[in-house]
Amino acid sequence: MKIYYFTSTGNCLYVGKEIKNKIDEVELIPIPRAMKEKNLICDSDMVGIIYPLHCFSLPSVVEEFLEKLKLEGSPYIFAVQVTGGGSSKNGFVRINEILNIKGLRLNNFEEIKYISNYIRAGRNPSKDRAIKSIEDEKSKLNDFITSIENKDDKNLKIRKQAVSNFVHSLWKNKYKNKDKKFNVNSNCTGCGTCEKICPVSNVKLKESKPIWNGKCIDCMACINICPSKAINIGNKTLKKDRYINPYIKRNELIK
Ligand SMILES: Cc1cc2nc3c(=O)[nH]c(=O)nc-3n(C[C@H](O)[C@H](O)[C@H](O)COP(=O)(O)O)c2cc1C
Ligand code: SF4
Ligand code: SF4
Repeated sequence: MKIYYFTSTGNCLYVGKEIKNKIDEVELIPIPRAMKEKNLICDSDMVGIIYPLHCFSLPSVVEEFLEKLKLEGSPYIFAVQVTGGGSSKNGFVRINEILNIKGLRLNNFEEIKYISNYIRAGRNPSKDRAIKSIEDEKSKLNDFITSIENKDDKNLKIRKQAVSNFVHSLWKNKYKNKDKKFNVNSNCTGCGTCEKICPVSNVKLKESKPIWNGKCIDCMACINICPSKAINIGNKTLKKDRYINPYIKRNELIK
């Protein structure tokens, strides 16, 4: 089984690792790394997609990845959407639309509700709250793992939710402005983690300090993962905690 995942702060990687711990022969592949392949072909008979909910739907990288991915044969395909406590069906519908164009469909899907890492808009959770959210969703995740082992087929009879889908497109249209207020302070050690972690290569070090290049997809990886808490968005994040999934190490997030 091949599982492609996108993660900024580790929640989706955590889910991927839980599946890998319980099912034999699972290969976990970060989507930004897969996107570097010229011919992106998958010949596995079971394929999983794990992604965080970004403003009521798929992160754009995940959408582009699915469009590029060539799936051979008729694989069993499942998706796990990991949220910050919210919920939306739009991501599953969009995945199914892309698969339908390839003559395939989404066979199984689940939403796992953890905590929000969207530091731009709210406060990140404490470690205790993050651990509790993971505990609270444990049995749902285990049931879903059993369900994919059994190759259960969930019929996707849902439609996009019009209002939230509209909000998603508005948010996406503002991508080009998203990194305008990113800044770095004197705590920066020039370690380069922000450059390595950015899924769209939007961060480059210049004279050992990051600069942002207008291609941001708002994923919140660089600001959360900087080990020196040196990155901010304007000054509104100065007093906010940073978040990494409590069971994931920083170096596991570098693609
Ligand atoms: C740009 C952005 C938008 C988000 N939008 C939502 C949302 O609409 N609903 C929600 O519940 N969580 C939202 N979140 C929170 C993430 O979905 C959530 O924290 C997820 O578990 C992060 O997974 P990761 O650690 O694998 O990146 C958003 C996060 C980001 C960065
Ligand atoms: S991750 Fe933080 S400390 Fe490291 S180079 Fe980037 S801003 Fe500087
Ligand atoms: S610049 Fe930062 S927030 Fe924007 S896409 Fe890259 S890692 Fe994510």
